Amino acid sequence: MARTKLKDILQSEKADYQVNVRGWVRSFRNNQFIALNDGSCMANLQVVIDPENTDEQLLKQITAGAALNINGTVIESPAKGQKVEVKAESIELYGECNPEDYPLQLKNRPSLEYLREIAHLRFRTNTFGAVFRVRHALAYAVHKFFNDKGFVYLHTPIITASDAEGAGEMFKVTTLPFDNTPRNEDGTVNFKEDFFERAANLTVSGQLEAELGAMALSEVYTFGPTFRAENSNTARHLAEFWMIEPEVAFNDIHDNADLAEELLKYIIKYALDNNREDLEFLADRLANEEKQKPQNERSEMGLVEKLEFVLNNDFERITYTEAIDVLMQSKPYKKKKFKFDVSWGIDMQSEHERYLVEKHYKKPVVVTDYPKDIKAFYMRQNDDGKTVAAMDILAPGIGEIVGGSQREERLDKLTQRMQEMDIPTEEMYWYLDTRKFGTVPHAGFGLGFERIVQFVTGMGNIRDVIPFPRTPGNCEF
Ligand code: 4AD
Ligand code: MG
Repeated sequence: MARTKLKDILQSEKADYQVNVRGWVRSFRNNQFIALNDGSCMANLQVVIDPENTDEQLLKQITAGAALNINGTVIESPAKGQKVEVKAESIELYGECNPEDYPLQLKNRPSLEYLREIAHLRFRTNTFGAVFRVRHALAYAVHKFFNDKGFVYLHTPIITASDAEGAGEMFKVTTLPFDNTPRNEDGTVNFKEDFFERAANLTVSGQLEAELGAMALSEVYTFGPTFRAENSNTARHLAEFWMIEPEVAFNDIHDNADLAEELLKYIIKYALDNNREDLEFLADRLANEEKQKPQNERSEMGLVEKLEFVLNNDFERITYTEAIDVLMQSKPYKKKKFKFDVSWGIDMQSEHERYLVEKHYKKPVVVTDYPKDIKAFYMRQNDDGKTVAAMDILAPGIGEIVGGSQREERLDKLTQRMQEMDIPTEEMYWYLDTRKFGTVPHAGFGLGFERIVQFVTGMGNIRDVIPFPRTPGNCEF
């Protein structure tokens, strides 16, 4: 008999038919009631067995974590909380699970920190089942959003020789030996002997290649893994994260902000419409976690309420200069409560960003026109000579979720800025060629995928929204 997913049985609520179900035992009560889960939804299916007519050895092997293949009949459930259950007629044990050894057997709720150490098993918990179903839904919604708008999904390279952000936070890719490394006469490494016959690294961003595509296809996006060797041990940074980067010819910075706001709202709405059960579970989880915090640190809204609020309100749009003014007028600034000082020209710290979105505006904020000295070489220079057409979106509880800009399309200005910032112009002839051959105004941004998953699921630590996080000192699994 073909397998039926638990989700289909629980959603249809029909009774009186034969099914085959397969999954893992979450719990087994009174030698009679199995709570079975197959990951297709949050809820477990209750399977009732007749202990009198079940092999004694098998009864002992039905323990949390064991995998079963069950034939039975769907019947109306006399118990509360579920419309239907399955009356088992035959049970096959796929794989047993020794309760002595099984780490998820613990009676006490395992902490998120502990579950991170057993990330290979944490998918089997309600929390991580919900997080990864929501992550999937958001990824699907991203592709649907761009596809419906006619964007071309461009696969930009993962191995590259350029540093898109010019920040030097790259992982090297090489096949050279560590001992006996081939060297030039001056002692430097001879990359001519390396696999690519030049130095190569993992990409920090697909933007520059996406720009090349946009100069012919008009609207493109990338959605792939990116890598940063920055030594940031925070709840917002990963060494390997996924980024969505649209790049659009003929767009200016305002079109860019509109596109980002539309994308964020679209994918949040998609999750609200399609992952209600998971989001409600995550909302309860978060509410319980918040109860441990002092009153003044708790958020004013529940998770679902927060997401609906974001959908139904325009993002605030301010310039960097306005943001600095707001900060300098703020109570924490006047009472010297900020750890980092505020003045025009600073790269805002997370305490500043959080004040703006959580205390002052109480919603997502688009900040534009940052000082050129704290931003990348490719951003379009404004007429004031001090700022660039940069655009960051800050979200409550997260901080920076989107970073983007209108691009410098003027060859002379771009070349000059690259020289000022020591970006090699000869090596990047291909980038400059787009400015020589039919250059047009264009703009794009990068949305950190894990940060939006954090925002939607309410998970406090970025390590809990990617299956196998890579952070400084951690490369397990
Ligand atoms: O602001 P960033 O560095 O911008 C770029 O990479 C541009 N090339 C994007 C573009 O214009 N096409 O990164 C973009 C976003 C950030 O706003 C943040 O959400 C996320 O990527 N991000 C990270 N997420 C997790 N871990 C890290 N180490 C991250 N660094 C950036
Ligand atoms: Mg940024």
